[in-house]
Amino acid sequence: MTAPVRTRSSEDLIRAEEPVLAHNYHPLPVVVSRAEGVWVEDVEGRRYLDLLAGYSALNFGHRHPALIAAAHEQLDRLTLTSRAFHNDRLAEFAERLAGLVGLDMVLPMNTGAEAVESGIKVARKWAYDVKGVPADRATIVVAAENFHGRTTTIVGFSTDETARAGFGPFAPGFRIVPYNDLAALEAAVDETTAAVLIEPIQGEAGVIIPDEGYLTGVRELTRRTGCLFVADEIQSGLGRTGRTLAVDHESVVPDVLLLGKALGGGIVPVSAVVANRDVLGVLGPGEHGSTFGGNPLAAAVGTAVVDLLETGEFQRRAAELGAVLRDGLTGLVGKGVVGFRSRGLWAGVDVDPALGTGREVSARLMGEGVLVKDTHGSTIRLAPPLTITEDELLNALATLGRVLERSV
Ligand SMILES: Cc1ncc(COP(=O)(O)O)c(C=O)c1O
Repeated sequence: MTAPVRTRSSEDLIRAEEPVLAHNYHPLPVVVSRAEGVWVEDVEGRRYLDLLAGYSALNFGHRHPALIAAAHEQLDRLTLTSRAFHNDRLAEFAERLAGLVGLDMVLPMNTGAEAVESGIKVARKWAYDVKGVPADRATIVVAAENFHGRTTTIVGFSTDETARAGFGPFAPGFRIVPYNDLAALEAAVDETTAAVLIEPIQGEAGVIIPDEGYLTGVRELTRRTGCLFVADEIQSGLGRTGRTLAVDHESVVPDVLLLGKALGGGIVPVSAVVANRDVLGVLGPGEHGSTFGGNPLAAAVGTAVVDLLETGEFQRRAAELGAVLRDGLTGLVGKGVVGFRSRGLWAGVDVDPALGTGREVSARLMGEGVLVKDTHGSTIRLAPPLTITEDELLNALATLGRVLERSV
């Protein structure tokens, strides 16, 4: 990487944000100005290993050459048509993405929250048109501690008061049950149920992995009771856990898959609802849409992302390096780590609260050149780009070990 081009200091830029940016985030005090692979560089030229990877939007690292090349090539030809017209990139993107996950059809959107909103609309429409639920009576069962995004409908069925409080009134039609509890799910499902909407692994909640058999149980229950299984794989999907999808660990195929984040290769927001024709086919012209959804730039980058995933290399790396991550974290248990959960290159690490909050530990790691993000309380989340090398990962684990040791 060459010298930074900016002249304002990190401190100055952070101060300049305060009066002009909404305060809906509390970022660590690092101002990134360039990045490559797993490394980011701040305006003073300090380098950091990025162990957050844009909440899994950067599964392939920063500026992966194949993705950047696809974006450049498309930028030089066509960027946006809206869906008022066809574009010459969309058919291939939909074909390839549907093929990757073994379903028929794609509804392209942009952000994760839009994919979730779209999935909710599709499920409700399916409930009225196909299942025969009386008008406006459809319900959707969701899990406590969920994180599906920030729209008013979505935060309305969140159990996180910070996300919810002050934003009502909320849309009705959602039932909340404990995660990882099939009996509670069974009790909540009835003839009005359009869908069960869950994360196969709850990322924002702290990388909560359900018991083996839970996803199979959700699949069996939804099939038996005649409602849809909608899996939000926006954070868990596309290689992160060592398989293309987190549901692949139980060989489960949901009715509706919600994808986002890494689908845009860290370049543009690209999300999608993917489902079979008997479900996604319920939408007709004018019933749903998005000006930017399915734009040719997004389709080109998304297709290049599918190319990468089809090699299987990233899933393999996540699985192999996931074992290294697990071993490293196991070695830290009792040395500042009180517990952790991991699958592939994704971990929620509970730090001994006596050593500080997750935020404080994240700040100390930043001081040592490693970027992570806390979730709740004393939990930090690790989600490095899947391109990280074993040495880089071992170094990051050693840094975590040192930071925790020094905190004692
Ligand atoms: C599981 C899950 N669903 C949905 C979203 C929302 O995605 P976006 O921030 O792109 O709207 C997130 C974001 O963290 C997520 O983790």
